[in-house]
Amino acid sequence: MSLGLGVIGCGSVFAGPYRAMIERLRADGRAHVAAVYDVDDGKRRRAAAHYDVDPQLRDPDAVTDADDVDVVLVLTSMNEHGALTKAALEAGKHVLVEKPMATSLGEAAELLELAETSPGLLVCAPHILLSPTFRAVHGAVRDGRIGELLTARARYGWAGPWWGEWFYAPGGGSLFDLGVYNVTSLCALFGPARRVTAMTGVAIREREVDGRRISVEAEDNAHVLLDFGDARFAVVTTGFTMQRYRSPAIEVYGRAGTIQLLGDDWAPEGWELWTNDDGAWRVFPEADPHWQWTEGLRHLVDCVESGRPTVTRPEHAYHALEIMLAAQDAGRDGVARTIESGFPDPVYDASFAELDAARAHDRRSHGGL
Ligand SMILES: NC(=O)c1ccc[n+]([C@@H]2O[C@H](COP(=O)([O-])OP(=O)(O)OC[C@H]3O[C@@H](n4cnc5c(N)ncnc54)[C@H](O)[C@@H]3O)[C@@H](O)[C@H]2O)c1
Repeated sequence: MSLGLGVIGCGSVFAGPYRAMIERLRADGRAHVAAVYDVDDGKRRRAAAHYDVDPQLRDPDAVTDADDVDVVLVLTSMNEHGALTKAALEAGKHVLVEKPMATSLGEAAELLELAETSPGLLVCAPHILLSPTFRAVHGAVRDGRIGELLTARARYGWAGPWWGEWFYAPGGGSLFDLGVYNVTSLCALFGPARRVTAMTGVAIREREVDGRRISVEAEDNAHVLLDFGDARFAVVTTGFTMQRYRSPAIEVYGRAGTIQLLGDDWAPEGWELWTNDDGAWRVFPEADPHWQWTEGLRHLVDCVESGRPTVTRPEHAYHALEIMLAAQDAGRDGVARTIESGFPDPVYDASFAELDAARAHDRRSHGGL
């Protein structure tokens, strides 16, 4: 059965990356777009015309309540995520929400509860834990290849969006938009963080966005320090303040070796392993250069079809949000915050081996996409 997708927010990520993933699911007869809604009339009409669905929907409830919608995609600006995801879960739908899952812990806590009690599955971006490269790195760490993890660095940044003023308004910012990837990755490797402190601020006070000069209110530059206990630390460097780089996304240092994930954690380019036993670097090229960060949608469809639990857990997204909010607070007053939440270690079951084989087959039949 092809699952009906209901899309809320038809902006840049929908029109580009998610559309490509939806097209592949549609070609395989696994999902199709059944309803779209955007507060912007033009974007809603264009999306509706593309998928030949009703262009007249007047509010998000028309998507979440539609009988032919099984899965709701929340792809709006970040401040809207919590309420829209809540409504979709309450309507009994499966939900994929872009990051962060919400912009306050209260909203996020409600989503965790609903994810437990409602019939729908909840998948929260980022979907980076699903990449073959991240899975290999996680496996190497759990197999003890570099021993106990002691320290780490991660970075993700760029010059910043030239669309969407909301990126620079309260509820936006580089931590929620970019730092979330590194925070999610590092915690997946180390386990839950216990304490956080940060330097955050606005480095570029004015920008041109959607052709207008705007004042930047949300932080666009951040260094976040994570404490994993027993004097084991990591730093996340993020911001709309980086033009280019050529450095690993993630560097993890253990008692007996080092792992470097190359590229960005949302677009990996392979990884490298040093072990003291080998006394040399091993280089693992990217296993699937076509892996896309929208893969969470396929994962959600896989889990709905198979009844398996999702590998990416809402608790992990909640933990990342708690860290980012604590980092914002610490950035304001310089006081380190204790982190209360935890999350289970990702479990990659045998279905991932099947998935890798299926993806290889897919690549052959779709000409490499
Ligand atoms: N752009 C990227 O490269 C990128 C990458 C990964 C993730 N994301 C995430 O995807 C989400 C969307 O980003 P984007 O770049 O597409 O933003 P965007 O501004 O291009 O699109 C957001 C859309 O949501 C619509 N919207 C806002 N409130 C709404 C509501 N209540 N109901 C319906 N529609 C509403 C806006 O009109 C807009 O069309 C964000 O959470 C962002 O962090 C973006």
